[in-house]
Amino acid sequence: MKIITFLCVLSLIGFVFGENKTDIKPVVIWHGMGDSCCFPFSMGRIKKLIEREVPGIYVLSLQIGDSIPSDVENGYFMLVKKQLEIAHDLIVNDPKLKNGFNSLGFSQGGLFLRALAQKYSSPAMYNLISMGGPQQGVYGIPNCGSVAHETCNYIRKLLNYAAYKSSFIFRRWVQNYLVQATYWHDPLNEKEYRKGSIFLADINNENVVNQTYINNLQKLNKFVMVRFENDTTVQPRDTEWFYWYKPGQAVEVQKLQDTYLYEEDRLGLKYMDEQKKLVFLETPGDHLQFTDDWFVENIINKYFK
Ligand SMILES: *[C@@H]1O[C@H](CO)[C@@H](O)[C@H](O)[C@H]1NC(C)=O
Ligand SMILES: *[C@@H]1O[C@H](CO)[C@@H](O)[C@H](O)[C@H]1NC(C)=O
Ligand SMILES: *[C@@H]1O[C@H](CO)[C@@H](O)[C@H](O)[C@H]1NC(C)=O
Repeated sequence: MKIITFLCVLSLIGFVFGENKTDIKPVVIWHGMGDSCCFPFSMGRIKKLIEREVPGIYVLSLQIGDSIPSDVENGYFMLVKKQLEIAHDLIVNDPKLKNGFNSLGFSQGGLFLRALAQKYSSPAMYNLISMGGPQQGVYGIPNCGSVAHETCNYIRKLLNYAAYKSSFIFRRWVQNYLVQATYWHDPLNEKEYRKGSIFLADINNENVVNQTYINNLQKLNKFVMVRFENDTTVQPRDTEWFYWYKPGQAVEVQKLQDTYLYEEDRLGLKYMDEQKKLVFLETPGDHLQFTDDWFVENIINKYFK
């Protein structure tokens, strides 16, 4: 009894004088292509960095699959819809996330987290940080860069084949087996892209306008998009700011504000822009190359504290 009273008093003191952490939300991370939730040199390191800068914060790095190797494989081969369901299950079943969370996506993880925000409104996502996420898809076969693994080279070949040599039916089919094909966006064949894309055209409301997507996206406090100034992996790198090519060619890029997606306000981005919910950041370096100092100052201190 005495011990319990003592503990109660202690926690009361802790409440009154302790650090004021009531505003700190947990963070959910979604890794990029060729990566996993937990490699110590990538997402593991980011998780540690956030935990060091924000004592007491809870960080969940999503593992899609039963093991780390399957997490890596699924990033290439599992239907995005299925990946989103798994991610949502992990989040819903984590009691620490029930009051909402901030999210941090790397490369395709930044695109998938936006899809997650649009499809599932609960628990609530507060700030969404997309680190080099291809929000308008990609056009160009990516460099495998630092994750130059055999799978990446295989993917490049398959994407190249699907994009340039094969039929519409094949392009449609390959999307069931190859994640990166679901956000392939051909500016020279916009019509065909819209008709054929099973993921990107859907979440960007290109064929039908799904009001749920708009409503849910607008619940975000901030949608922060980070573009890498010297990105050679994602083409065009401006897709990381939701920019896309001017129609009918693949050289000149136009601002988000000039795209038809924005002008027709198919995704509610115009409203979000007016409400100052869209944040465009840039950092020097190639894809996903940034310094700890930059990340702490521009992301952790501004959006996770
Ligand atoms: C927590 O911080 C906010 C804003 O700084 C303050 O208004 C509030 O009173 C604090 N709460 C506690 C329990 O210290
Ligand atoms: C809109 O999106 C929601 C959430 O994913 C889904 O449940 C609904 O079926 C979609 N509506 C249409 C018309 O596609
Ligand atoms: C990165 O891009 C900027 C702007 O295009 C350029 O000024 C800078 O020299 C580039 N840095 C490197 C290392 O290529």
